[in-house]
Amino acid sequence: MEVTPSRRLTAVKPYIFSEIALWRQAAATKGLEVIDLGRGGPDIGPYGEAVEELAVTAADPTKYSYTPYTGSPELLGAIVRWYQRCFRVKISSGDIALLPGSKGGLSRLNLALADPHDTVILPDPAFPSYASAAVVAGLEVHRLELKDELDWHPDLVGIPNEVAERARFILLNYPNNPTGAATTGDFLTKLVDWARRTRTLVVYDNAYQFVTYDGNEPLSILSVPGAEEVAVEFHTLSKAYGMAGVRIAFAAGHSQAIAALKKIEVYYQAGIFAPSLAAATVALNEGDDAVAEAVAVYTDRRDAVSTLLDEMGWQHEKPGGATYFWLKLPGGKGEDVAFCRGLLETTGVVLTPGSAFGEAGRRYVRLSVTQPRERLERALELIGKYLGERE
Ligand SMILES: Cc1ncc(COP(=O)(O)O)c(C=O)c1O
Repeated sequence: MEVTPSRRLTAVKPYIFSEIALWRQAAATKGLEVIDLGRGGPDIGPYGEAVEELAVTAADPTKYSYTPYTGSPELLGAIVRWYQRCFRVKISSGDIALLPGSKGGLSRLNLALADPHDTVILPDPAFPSYASAAVVAGLEVHRLELKDELDWHPDLVGIPNEVAERARFILLNYPNNPTGAATTGDFLTKLVDWARRTRTLVVYDNAYQFVTYDGNEPLSILSVPGAEEVAVEFHTLSKAYGMAGVRIAFAAGHSQAIAALKKIEVYYQAGIFAPSLAAATVALNEGDDAVAEAVAVYTDRRDAVSTLLDEMGWQHEKPGGATYFWLKLPGGKGEDVAFCRGLLETTGVVLTPGSAFGEAGRRYVRLSVTQPRERLERALELIGKYLGERE
């Protein structure tokens, strides 16, 4: 019997990251030492006390049953206090949805808020899962280009009224993956104004909430007055807290959007592992200093990489947030996929081709500072040589 995938699945392209895994394997087989600057997962963390809490909870055999869909009151309380302490935002614990990772929650939000053929406005370039999840849900994607000259922000005024009118939501993410742009309070205020005027829900993915540099303040869209009437914000503990494998995240804000997300989650998941809930509670209650230390390390690496790029004459913007450099391929260096493949097969250094993040990424590559400084320095040396040989 032949089994064919659904039309919705056939509509999405294979993930470029699976192809990169094959190049990587070929490089390792050739005996090259692979230095992976392609991955988005952080290498710093988790915070020690959170690990201890996770271990203690995991050692308790009573913590292996299904947990309530609502999560734990301790974690909900920790999130309410965290919002107040870190962003001076007052939220109610009823307007929080706990999630086993934000990728799944963001994906299922499509199903919770939109019907097949509805339109959603998604940034380009962007975390690839936004567009693929929307396509799998049968939605029409209106591509909103992030503009280099606007520090990788969109031109909101340029969104046609008829698109805004029919869109179920607009999704934006700062600090940004893959461009490394941070945002400003001014932009968030304009975004909320635009959303109120056009009556469009904003889904704000704040995955890298504290990973900001050069005095860019960590920001929550919910701190803009009235934002809870037009916005939902997603946070994850995967990045700043270094807990990607624990799969813990949450969304807060607009009551009806959160209620719809909670309702759909019930059909797709069966509660979050108790040790994950407990570890996240400790991380949010006590992890501020550990997060600040991690950001200091990322800052040091970012500065070192920027200096080395300057030395090899590769023009670039220093990221204002997140853990990525978004590098335009120097003229004549070919197209992004061929460049990354050639680099990996020749030197063992992994970068991500920009087109993995959308049409707008062609001719860019993403370099992640999620490796120790010595390995970043070695990788940059190899990249410099590779570029030199291609002159
Ligand atoms: C912008 C952005 N949002 C969401 C996620 C998903 O994070 P998680 O599912 O680990 O919470 C990622 C992961 O790379 C990301 O870069």
